[in-house]
Amino acid sequence: MTLGLTVRAPGRVNLIGEHTDYNDGLVLPAAIDLEIRIDLVPRADRLVRLELAADGRLGQLDLDAIGAPTGGWLDYVAGVALELTRSGLPTGGLDGRLSATLPASAGLSSSAALELAAAWALLSAADGFTPNSVERLALARLCQRAENDYVGVRTGLMDQFAASCGEAGCALLLDCRSLDYRPVVLPRGLQLVVVETGAKRRLAASEYNQRRSECERGVDVLRARGEQVASLRDATLDMLDRAATDLGDVVYRRCRHVVEENTRTLAAVRALESDDRIALGELFAASHTSLRDLYEVSSPALDAAVDVATATRGVVASRMTGGGFGGCTVNLVEPDVVDALRSALERDYVARTGLAPVVHLVTAASGAGLVESVQLR
Ligand code: GLA
Repeated sequence: MTLGLTVRAPGRVNLIGEHTDYNDGLVLPAAIDLEIRIDLVPRADRLVRLELAADGRLGQLDLDAIGAPTGGWLDYVAGVALELTRSGLPTGGLDGRLSATLPASAGLSSSAALELAAAWALLSAADGFTPNSVERLALARLCQRAENDYVGVRTGLMDQFAASCGEAGCALLLDCRSLDYRPVVLPRGLQLVVVETGAKRRLAASEYNQRRSECERGVDVLRARGEQVASLRDATLDMLDRAATDLGDVVYRRCRHVVEENTRTLAAVRALESDDRIALGELFAASHTSLRDLYEVSSPALDAAVDVATATRGVVASRMTGGGFGGCTVNLVEPDVVDALRSALERDYVARTGLAPVVHLVTAASGAGLVESVQLR
């Protein structure tokens, strides 16, 4: 009997709680209905052969002889295979075809989606695999380790978490210290709109790692002053103000963003749950300003997309989302003004930046998994 299997993994959009995950903080991402799929047939041997539907490129690896990373897309698959094995989980060889509605390198976590899709593909191809045995949070952490240790980008847990644990119709409030999380139902009367700026993401990985180091420096300075902090999660604004001279301007601003963003994330959960649109608008705006001025990860294109959205009646909330330096904005919009937002972007955003925005109407989706399994013969 030959099985034909399909697995999927979604992208994510973060509503609020930016650059807090690697500081033990709070995040509020949602998995979205833009996704990566892999159609596959398990093989009897340990070879993994994947074809990219977009351009016919082929990648191949031997699960028993995974070497060093090569810098390409297959690294995500190889890193996940290594981590599955390290965790004592089964993997199987396969012939697969990967297709995507999720744009790559647009700031919607196509890397995390690829990792989760690969994990489900490799697990599903193993003999005797039972989908119910998968622990979603553990799988997210495993994929994060693949990205940190094999691919070499020091991301936090948010993206893999959202891609693995997402729930339809909900954002997820994750405490990155305790790893407790809970769904936050999104107001039914609001459309989630993601706007791709169309700008190439520049310097994202090196600037990202630098922000992480600046946060670690902040913790070191606070500790040297005798403060009891294990991470910036434990810092307070008073503490930062008292330490301002020792921290220096840049590190002070980074730390201040993180401390205030955690507070904003909890406030945004309250605002979503009470459908307080004014508060949501203010919190998103404050988050964006802080990312622009204190954390310095926004870009002229992101600022323009937020300005145009904010000036459009019926757009409730707008901010940059994800790591920054290009990528996307996230917007909560009254459904009957979606067209007005699109027109405003096509007119004013294009005039201001010369870039073509891509507007995605998305809904919050469930996390990665096995979609179907059919008997081929
Ligand atoms: C990237 C990382 C996440 C998170 C965000 C910023 O998306 O992969 O872990 O740090 O940036 O919030």
